[in-house]
Amino acid sequence: MQKIVAVCGKGGVGKTAVTAMMTRELRGRPSTGHFLVVDADPALGLMYALNVQSDKTIGAVRDKVLQAAESGNAGARAEVANELDYLITSSLIEEKDYSVIAMGHMDAKGCFCSVNGLLRDALGELVEKFDTILIDGEAGIEQINRQVVDRINTLILVTDSSYRGVQTVHHIEEMVKNGAIDSCEMVGVVFNRIQGDNRTLEELQALVGLPVLGIIPYDATVQNFDAEGKPLFDLPDDTPALKAVGKIIDKVFA
Ligand SMILES: Nc1ncnc2c1ncn2[C@@H]1O[C@H](COP(=O)(O)OP(=O)(O)OP(=O)(O)O)[C@@H](O)[C@H]1O
Ligand SMILES: [Mg+2]
Repeated sequence: MQKIVAVCGKGGVGKTAVTAMMTRELRGRPSTGHFLVVDADPALGLMYALNVQSDKTIGAVRDKVLQAAESGNAGARAEVANELDYLITSSLIEEKDYSVIAMGHMDAKGCFCSVNGLLRDALGELVEKFDTILIDGEAGIEQINRQVVDRINTLILVTDSSYRGVQTVHHIEEMVKNGAIDSCEMVGVVFNRIQGDNRTLEELQALVGLPVLGIIPYDATVQNFDAEGKPLFDLPDDTPALKAVGKIIDKVFA
């Protein structure tokens, strides 16, 4: 079955770091199959973490289509609509063992519902072609394209043990209860950047209503890689945070 996994949580809790480490651990596993990674953050932090360079984003495709729509020229409109699949496919970056796509800025003004509809359909078709899709989201899940959101079946909420991080988890817990993401079969929490070995799973589980999928320790190597601008994808195999992510994947993808 197709697995669509979104990684969400409060700003700065480590969503991008966790997604980059998950990408590293998932690629090449036979159960992963055809693998797509989506950077849904306009700041393109995941692209840096994966050491992937590209200026092609879905936002740029959208702008191009909007321009054609605005030009009012029916010929240009029809042409771009036809081209949309091609434009989206050419925004896809092929890496060894996985593909990446960046959403970029999706905030162009105006309501061009037909354009958004076309884009949604084209993205939906693209997503169809992969077995595992991993999304580095923003704080909420609202920003991820609707066509994709409706099909997310695994939601990973990253948090640190801070009050505000946990509050964000509670907020998303509410959304889940209210049926905002009915498609989700698994929703769980990952505690990240946990200092020392003295926080037990039970203790952290008591902070949230959703099941805790795992604990990722504070890891100076992760912090240093980011501080020095080195891609997290290149972390050494024995990095404790990476090992913890491997265990979480064993659980989520069991
Ligand atoms: N397990 C960890 N150990 C040490 N440092 C970590 C760990 N996880 C993340 N960090 C550091 O925390 C900082 C924030 O991480 P990251 O950018 O992944 O957060 P984010 O949730 O994606 O942020 P944003 O909301 O801005 O996208 C980075 O400097 C990163 O190196
Ligand atoms: Mg990020």
